[in-house]
Amino acid sequence: MGCFSCCLTADDGGGDESRFSLKKSSKKSHNASTLEAIVKNMSLKSDSSRHRIIAAELQKIGNGNANATKTFTFKELANATKNFKTECLVGEGGFGRVYKGFIKSTNQVVAVKQLDRNGLQGNREFLVEVLMLSLVHHPNLVNLVGYCADGDQRILVYEYMPLGSLEDHLLDLHPTKKALDWNTRMKIAQGAAKGLEYLHDVANPPVIYRDFKASNILLDENFSPKLSDFGLAKLGPTGDKSHVSTRVMGTYGYCAPEYALTGQLTTKSDVYSFGVVFLEIITGRRAIDNSRPANEQNLVTWAQPLFKDRRKFTLMADPLLEGNYPIKGLYQALAIASMCLQEESTTRPLISDVVTALEYLAAPKQEEEGGGSSHHTSKSHSFQSNNDGEDSEDDNGSSQNDEDDKEEHK
Ligand SMILES: Nc1ncnc2c1ncn2[C@@H]1O[C@H](COP(=O)(O)OP(=O)(O)OP(=O)(O)O)[C@@H](O)[C@H]1O
Ligand SMILES: [Mg+2]
Repeated sequence: MGCFSCCLTADDGGGDESRFSLKKSSKKSHNASTLEAIVKNMSLKSDSSRHRIIAAELQKIGNGNANATKTFTFKELANATKNFKTECLVGEGGFGRVYKGFIKSTNQVVAVKQLDRNGLQGNREFLVEVLMLSLVHHPNLVNLVGYCADGDQRILVYEYMPLGSLEDHLLDLHPTKKALDWNTRMKIAQGAAKGLEYLHDVANPPVIYRDFKASNILLDENFSPKLSDFGLAKLGPTGDKSHVSTRVMGTYGYCAPEYALTGQLTTKSDVYSFGVVFLEIITGRRAIDNSRPANEQNLVTWAQPLFKDRRKFTLMADPLLEGNYPIKGLYQALAIASMCLQEESTTRPLISDVVTALEYLAAPKQEEEGGGSSHHTSKSHSFQSNNDGEDSEDDNGSSQNDEDDKEEHK
């Protein structure tokens, strides 16, 4: 993993010249200055020549790197997907169609994402995706196997995630499929938060993911999550800058209010989006659902008054859980979500604090507590819900719960 000048701000008004490296990596690029020159050059070139330069550079980076990003020919990928046959189609998003494929030469099952040339997203996202995913590697980030840029084609090849997206299991659940249980939900939240933690705290400068949502959290055969879609990712502020200014992009319903209003982007914008997804995980409701009554269409707006009344917490749990969740775990999870969803970005927790809290919530002992019918109350350890003192039931239960908490920490 080497240093990389920031070419990821291309037409976004960022203009950041800082280097990209990984704090925990001791390896430094031997050709950083070459890369810097190349990146500077890029802004003067057309998209296609830019791409050729980047492709050549990625190949150089890839040499001697076990995680090398491979270049595929269109023919190879057509063979892998039976000529992009409908039966191989697994999904479709703003970038284009996604097919399941098989690469014979490496005996590898892959997901092949083909840019729809009439689509909204394009070349820039393709480049950012290839660059970002060539540089960042973590068990909770999807692995880019390679890409194809033959002629007009823009195709991304990823490791195949057999269980599809969190959206498929949480929000678009087929009636014959079993709903995710509580503990799996907490583990998915924890893993996804760890992916963000890596981007915010290990990558240097931090990477702001910008498109944290259920459809971008993919699941492996053990329901371990990996973040996908780095096309909108952005290098965070460096030096004494507190934010980067950029066009507002991302997905409606998940965007932090300050980012949506002013375009000011910080890692705390991702923390807000995490809060929205975590709330989806807890409630089984979509961030935006136009099929619901007007006052329930926006998940966060619906949840805000409920966060303030502990007696209403159980109303927020996904009915598909059928009451099978630890009450205390539910309270703590809602407290975390509510902290992440603070209007004021500076009062939101760091993603590393969220990971710590979720490690506790996803620990197996929560499973043992099971059964949603027990009505004892509790306080979160790292996070306090913002309703203290408003709810007499809470006050009645608190000494019992403080005891419970002590018990669990032994
Ligand atoms: N690596 C992968 N392995 C398995 N399935 C995948 C993979 N990548 C994407 N998919 C499937 O394809 C679907 C579409 O993904 P895609 O990222 O193109 O769009 P999206 O996330 O739904 O929307 P958007 O374009 O707004 O990100 C996903 O929901 C998922 O089911
Ligand atoms: Mg996606």
